[in-house]
Amino acid sequence: MTLNDPEQPGGASIGTAIPAAAAAPAPLTVPAPLAAEGVPTRFACFVTGTDTEIGKTLISSAILHKLVQQGVRACGMKPIAAGAEERDGMLHNDDAAMLRAAGNVLLPQRITTPYMLREPCAPHIAASLEGVTIEPVPIITAYAEILGASDATVVEGVGGFWVPFSPDFDSADLAVQLGLPVVLVVGMRLGCINHALLTAEAIVARGLVLAGWVANQVDPDMRFADENVAELARRLPAPLLGRVPRLTEPSAAAAAAHIELANLPGWPAKRA
Ligand SMILES: Nc1ncnc2c1ncn2[C@@H]1O[C@H](COP(=O)(O)OP(=O)(O)OP(=O)(O)O)[C@@H](O)[C@H]1O
Ligand SMILES: [Mg+2]
Repeated sequence: MTLNDPEQPGGASIGTAIPAAAAAPAPLTVPAPLAAEGVPTRFACFVTGTDTEIGKTLISSAILHKLVQQGVRACGMKPIAAGAEERDGMLHNDDAAMLRAAGNVLLPQRITTPYMLREPCAPHIAASLEGVTIEPVPIITAYAEILGASDATVVEGVGGFWVPFSPDFDSADLAVQLGLPVVLVVGMRLGCINHALLTAEAIVARGLVLAGWVANQVDPDMRFADENVAELARRLPAPLLGRVPRLTEPSAAAAAAHIELANLPGWPAKRA
């Protein structure tokens, strides 16, 4: 019912002058559900880490695994992969392959990894060796295609948070352009507190949301790991999503068992 509903007692029909008393605010009503409310929530995040080789791919795959378990169409993206070899006429990269296996949306590799570079080194060097300049537009365009084909997207960064791609484009710029909440993987080893705090500060300074962090036990012999996690939890401005121990067989499913993501923004409810 609205103020102008002729069926409302005392209501005025359209075109009728409304007496002052009738101009009082109408009681709040619950709006009718919109068709758009049936559209599933979209989840997306950017996974960065305290360094290279600290478990970004493992945790990105674990997030994808959990999304698939929720019954949503989930797709991983590794926009820039440095370290690829030719297999059966196609370039293969381990990170891209693991993300692909963990998700359930299969898109051409040129979309999920627009920059597949051969040399396993810093991306700007790998690119220059191939005469390529890494630019934002092909990545954003590919990301838009992934959005259209999936309900959830996990984008794995490259190395740490601030890795150069070209003279005027780096991985922090990419995270900003995608505008995604960031999940920080902290590789638990000596020195990780400093790396984690610097990374968190850089993420926040770029106006991004640090949605959560994962403590990943890359060094099985790290001393005082509990104390390090406690200090990180005290200082990092985001929730701890889980502690992944040193796994004998690191897999998406094994890592997923140690993280809890239900409180991440946009995390989907389980679908039948
Ligand atoms: N918790 C863990 N238990 C056992 N092995 C692990 C764990 N975390 C990572 N690893 C292993 O360490 C290696 C590096 O992990 P991963 O590839 O996920 O790192 P990354 O940060 O994605 O590296 P890059 O910077 O190259 O993308 C992999 O062989 C992975 O299986
Ligand atoms: Mg990786």
